[in-house]
Formats: sequence, C-alpha cells, structure tokens
Amino acid sequence: MTDISAAHDAAVTNRARLAGSAYNGERDLAARQSLYQWQSPRYDLPSIVAGRLGAVRGRVVDVGCGNGKFIKQLRQERPDLKLLGLDIAPGILGDVPGAVAVADVARLPLAPGSVDAALAMHMLYHAPDIPQAVRELSRVVADDGLLIASTNSDSDKAELDELWVRAAGDVLGTGRGPARISLSARFTLEKAPTFLGEQFGRVETTELPGTITVTDPEPVVAHMASYQAWADQHDVPFEATIERAHTILEEHIARRGAFEIHCLGGILVCCR
Ligand SMILES: C[S@@+](CC[C@H](N)C(=O)[O-])C[C@H]1O[C@@H](n2cnc3c(N)ncnc32)[C@H](O)[C@@H]1O
Repeated sequence: MTDISAAHDAAVTNRARLAGSAYNGERDLAARQSLYQWQSPRYDLPSIVAGRLGAVRGRVVDVGCGNGKFIKQLRQERPDLKLLGLDIAPGILGDVPGAVAVADVARLPLAPGSVDAALAMHMLYHAPDIPQAVRELSRVVADDGLLIASTNSDSDKAELDELWVRAAGDVLGTGRGPARISLSARFTLEKAPTFLGEQFGRVETTELPGTITVTDPEPVVAHMASYQAWADQHDVPFEATIERAHTILEEHIARRGAFEIHCLGGILVCCR
C-alpha cells in the first residue's frame, strides 16, 4: 500500500514542482490570497508584520517572498529598511520590486548574522527539512535580530476540506472521497513553536481567527483550483471534483444565502 502522507510530503516539498508549476507565476498564489478579501475581521498581514518589525533597523530578508506582498508593503511603511526578496521559484519574482534572487531556504546566500530580521511567511511547510531550514534562518539573523514566520492552524478552512471530500465522493460514487492535499500540515500553527523553539529562546504566537463569507462560489472554486500543481496527488479526477464542488456551493448558497469558511492563521515572532 502507498504511504499517502509520505507521498504528499514529497509533493509539497518537491523543488521542481514548486518552482516549475505551483509558483512558476503568481496566478495560483494570488487566487489563494484573494479569498481573504471576504474574511471578517480582515487582517492586513503585511502591516501587522511592519508593526512587529518596529524596532528593527537595517537589513530584512523575506525568504520565500512569493509575489512580494510583504516587500511591497514594507517599502511603503518602512522605506528605511534595506529589503531583499529570496524565493526558490524564479517565475514568481517577476513583479517583486527591489533586490531579489533565486535561493533556497536550505542554503541562504547570506553571511552569518548579516540580517536584522528574516521573514518566512507561509513557506516553511515547503522546506524538505524544516529543522535545517530554521537553523539556516537562525544562522543569518543577527544575535539581537528577529525571525517572523507565519502559517495556518490544523483547523484552518475545515469547511473547504469537507467540501472537497463531499465533491470527490460524489465524483467517485463512494459517499465520502479522499481528503485533498494540505500544504501547511507539516508546519502548522500548532507545530511551529516546537520547530522554531529549537533555535529561538522566545517564540510569540499571535492567532488571527476569522470567517470568510461568500455569496458567490467563484472565489472558493478559484481557491480550490489553485492546487492544480498537486492535482495528481488527489486520487480523484481534479477538474471533475472542482466542478462538483461548484455545484454543491451553488446549491448551498441558494438554500442558505452564503457559504462560510472558518480560518485560523497566525504569525510567530521569534528572538533569542
Ligand atoms: C505560499 S507561498 C508564500 C509567499 C509569500 N511569503 C506570502 O506569504 O505571500 C510559498 C513561497 O515559498 C517559496 N518556496 C517554497 N520552497 C522554498 C524554499 N525551499 N526556499 C525558498 N523559497 C521557497 C515558493 O516558491 C512560494 O513563493
């Protein structure tokens, strides 16, 4: 029997899949980010990070910077900082302003203690060896510097997981279908303090709970479809499952007026 979770872990961390497909442009990441515009309360995560960087001066590296959401905001709010964006996927760096380079969190092209803060936002779950990635981030952060990481809870968007299982079951004719892939499962908000605590004496977690309410299936369907780089990991036809989920959502919204998704993300501020 195949070990599904080992196969999922390998797929979530595979460099060729990440750089060549999942993040070879910003479309899929942007679809996931944009669902939060229907969340209440709304959190401006880049501004929250800018606030947490309050006393930090000098050089800040954003590792796994993606489409530059954090760098763009920091350039506005903290023009005094010297920012560097690093990402494993060259294709996602196109619109990131300022200094950027292709680099892997496993081996950062930075001298020991050379940055005053590092960001690792929603990215450590993609690292094949998370303890090693945290050691590498710790290596480049100055002794009095900060690491700010973010991720999602185990319980985040449970309604989407349930919707997938129902839709996949309908497609397969099995009642309930197989679970969809979970990107953050390897480094959830619950697991993160233990990983980060290996290198940092103080890890302060701030939970950011909210509820997404949509009256149109489209943004939810776009979010689900944004996992297409992992379509082959689902043991169910991916497009057909998305189509079925669309219909289930339409029926739910027609009956109840809206579809709700409970979110729990958070940030972790780490120092020595
Ligand atoms: C979910 S996105 C998050 C992007 C951005 N930090 C944000 O929060 O909007 C994960 C990013 O991490 C990058 N990534 C994945 N594995 C990486 C690695 N080993 N080293 C550096 N970047 C990596 C991906 O290419 C992608 O851009």
